[in-house]
This record gives sequence, C-alpha cells and structure tokens, in this order.
Amino acid sequence: MTDDVLVVHGGTPLNGQIRVRGAKNLVSKAMVAALLGDSPSRLFDVPRIRDVEVVRGLLELHGVKVTDGAEDGELVFDPANVESASTDEINVHAGSSRIPILFCGPLLHRLGHAFIPDLGGCHIGPRPIDFHIQALRQFGAVVDKTPEGMHLTAPTGLHGTKFELPYPSVGATEQVLLTAVLAEGVTELRNAAVEPEIIDLICVLQKMGAIIKVHTDRVIEIQGVARLSGYTHRPIPDRIEAASWAAAALATGGRVEVLGAEQADMMTFLNVFRSVGGAYEVTDTRPPRVDSPGQEGGIRFWHPGGELRAVALETDVHPGFMTDWQQPLVVALTQARGLSIVHETVYEQRLGYTDALNKMGATIQVYRDCLGGTPCRFGRRNFKHSAVIAGPAKLHAADLVIPDLRAGFSHLIAALAAEGTSRVYGVDLINRGYEDFEAKLSALGAHVERP
Ligand code: EPZ
Repeated sequence: MTDDVLVVHGGTPLNGQIRVRGAKNLVSKAMVAALLGDSPSRLFDVPRIRDVEVVRGLLELHGVKVTDGAEDGELVFDPANVESASTDEINVHAGSSRIPILFCGPLLHRLGHAFIPDLGGCHIGPRPIDFHIQALRQFGAVVDKTPEGMHLTAPTGLHGTKFELPYPSVGATEQVLLTAVLAEGVTELRNAAVEPEIIDLICVLQKMGAIIKVHTDRVIEIQGVARLSGYTHRPIPDRIEAASWAAAALATGGRVEVLGAEQADMMTFLNVFRSVGGAYEVTDTRPPRVDSPGQEGGIRFWHPGGELRAVALETDVHPGFMTDWQQPLVVALTQARGLSIVHETVYEQRLGYTDALNKMGATIQVYRDCLGGTPCRFGRRNFKHSAVIAGPAKLHAADLVIPDLRAGFSHLIAALAAEGTSRVYGVDLINRGYEDFEAKLSALGAHVERP
C-alpha cells in the first residue's frame, strides 16, 4: 500500500482543459458485445483504464483476438476463433470487475456453456445478481452457483421471454439485451434501465444486426435474429468522469473545460451544478453525437466567485441524478452556505466516504431515513443512505484511504480543495475508471506527486 499513495498539496484552484473519452460503462459492455458477432468489431475512443484491461483479458482468454487500431484509443476485436477457457485462467480475473457477469449470454450463444468468476467492483452495498440469474433462467439457462464461480449451460438453447425487472438495473438490462439478441423469438423487458449508456449499447447491437425497440415506460422489445456481424462504433463520452472534473473545478474554485463532455447526457447534472452556484458554458457547437475527434469542444465549468448555495438532491435512475455524480459533488456541497440534503436511492451504502470528509473538517451527518424526497427501497431499513451537509466548512489536509472508485475521486477533490498536504492511499483504484488522472491533474495545475 505504501507505494500506492499520492501526495496532494491542496489549496490551488484547478485551471485548464482536459478531455474525456468513451464512457467506461458503455465501452466495457460494447467490448463484450463483440463476442456476439461473426466478423470483427471496431471500437474508437477506448480509455486506458483497468476495467477495459480486465474485459480485454477475458475476451482474449476466450479466443477473441484484440488488436490496437490505427487511431489512438481504437481497438479491433476478431471473434473468429472463440473458444472455452479454463476456470483457473478465468479466475485470475475474480474480484476485479463486475463486467464478467455480462459474458453469460454471449458465451452461452457462442459455446453453449460459460463460467463466470466471482465478481468484484466497488464495495458500495451488497450488489446482488439475482435479477441477472432470474432472467438467464427464464431464457433457458441452467445456472449452477459454486464457491469458485458460476457455471452456466443452455441444454435446449436460449429462447425469448417476458421479464419484468423489480428495479431498473443497468447491468440486468444489459444482460437481457446481450442474451435476447440471439435468442430464438421475441423478448419483452419491462421496467428496463434506459441510461444513455444502455441506449448506446442498443445502437451497437443494432449496428450488428439486432432488432430492438425501445418503447415508452421502460419497455424494451428484442426480436431475436439468427446471426450478428461486427460493428464500428464511437461511444458516448464519459459523463461520470466529466461531472467529476466539474465538481473538482467547483470545489477548488477553479475553471476546467472538459473536452468531449456532452450536454444532452448531463442535463440533470448541469441543473444541479447551476443551482449550487456553479457556472458552465457549452463550448461544443456541433450537433449532438457528431464524430470529429480532436476538434470538439465540450463543457467549461467554473466557480464564478461568491458563495455556493445549499441544495437538496436525490440520486435516481436515468433521467435522475446519477448515483456516480453524488460523491464528487458532495465535496463542493461542503463549501455551500446552509444545509444540503442528499438522498441516495440507488445504492444502500454509498455514503461511507463522508467519514473521511468529516475528518477533514466537513460537517456531514448521515441518516437511515429517506430525507428530502420520496421514500425509497432503503427507507426504514438499516441503511444510512441520506446525508445532511452543513456548510461552508474549511477543509484541512488529512491522510485518506480510498474505499471505492467514485468515493476515491471525491477524496482526491477534497485533498485538492483543502489547505495543506494530504496523503491519499490506494489511488491506483482510481485508474479503474479515470484515464491518466494524474497527468490530467498536473495539466490542470494541481500540485500532486508520488512520494
Ligand atoms: C452500473 O452498475 C454501473 N457500473 C455503476 O457504476 C452505476 O453506479 C450503476 O450502474 C447505476 O447507474 C457499470 O456499468 C459497470 P445496477 P450495475 O444493476 O449495473 C440492485 C461506477 O463507479 N440490483 O443498476 O451493477 C443493486 O444492488 C459504477 O462506474 C439488485 O438488487 O448497477 C443496486 O441497488 C459503480 N439485483 C441497483 O439494483 C441485481 O441483480 C442498481 O444496480 C442487480 C442490481
């Protein structure tokens, strides 16, 4: 752990320009989708992050040839020789990411069997996979959970089905999409997640030959087809990373232009950012989704001076305020005058990181009650999922240990905003989802160093 530390000399506003690439939570799924094609797929703007490495490793283990394309960030996937991998080899990736669960449908289609290692990902609640398993069983999969991982077969093939999600889970929606596209017959998914990353995955699958209808009221209908080909795709930009840098600009009193950031996918964030007292300007003058890498604008975010204002916000599924935007923004809320309220309704344990902010001088109290909004699934249960943030608070330096990806970034922002020198341990975790974050910090004028 001692070499996995970043020394942060805080108190300097972040100023400058950085670029975000393809969204982690789309890129990793589009990579899995490449398994379904019978010809090569080409994905642009892939960030160099740990989750991409994990998925690339798993694809290669299953015989997919992955090569770098001509453009920086371009990957080519050739699935001509998909083959089984040994459980020992697959288990090397155990605990490293949650994406492997999405290999179920594609591997069942390509090989007739699948082995999925024990999952990893951020520790932000129990993160069950019951929806995934129920859906796969309804498609006809036989799922055998063992201590070493999950074995799946499909003795009679995979068949379209009707399934209603108890909650609009992103991963379970993707699981159904990736399984239904080659299943025999029609699948109807109710209460589906409709995040922009899901719509972009549907675009990928449609390019491959899938027939997918997105109806109103969270209903998605997929008509299975006999074969899919490869795709060429430039993903939507990473709206979580973009919001993280926006929050960093606000909390440090700086000005950051996030090239590549797209207004349409960030509308809810932008509304909250403005309500808090942050300023932004959309510098991208192209119509949405136009590809011209390297020439694009994005969104410039800054602290216009004066006091920030307290807000009440509730995280929710799209089009609500993303749960992944919450932690970075809370650091800025510690600087707002009055009482801010945050009600986390997506994950039951995503406020633990506030202890570290309190250690740095913030005043944040967490509650089991559903505060400031509609009652959620976690109300009256033993989950501290609401927070009241009293501000403005003067943050001071501290030694911090990063608990998970987004909370980790919020620790970094807090250290940058605080007076003095902080040591942030476990920073390598941030490489899971933020490409070159240390280089970007330096480019924005942050005083950070490896000891
Ligand atoms: C995705 O996770 C993202 N990860 C998360 O981002 C993001 O926070 C989340 O969606 C919500 O937007 C990836 O895309 C890799 P869910 P996912 O299934 O798909 C419950 C990041 O930092 N649930 O929508 O795992 C679950 O416990 C990460 O980039 C079940 O109960 O999230 C949670 O309370 C963190 N049973 C809720 O649904 C299930 O079988 C939403 O989870 C599945 C989910």
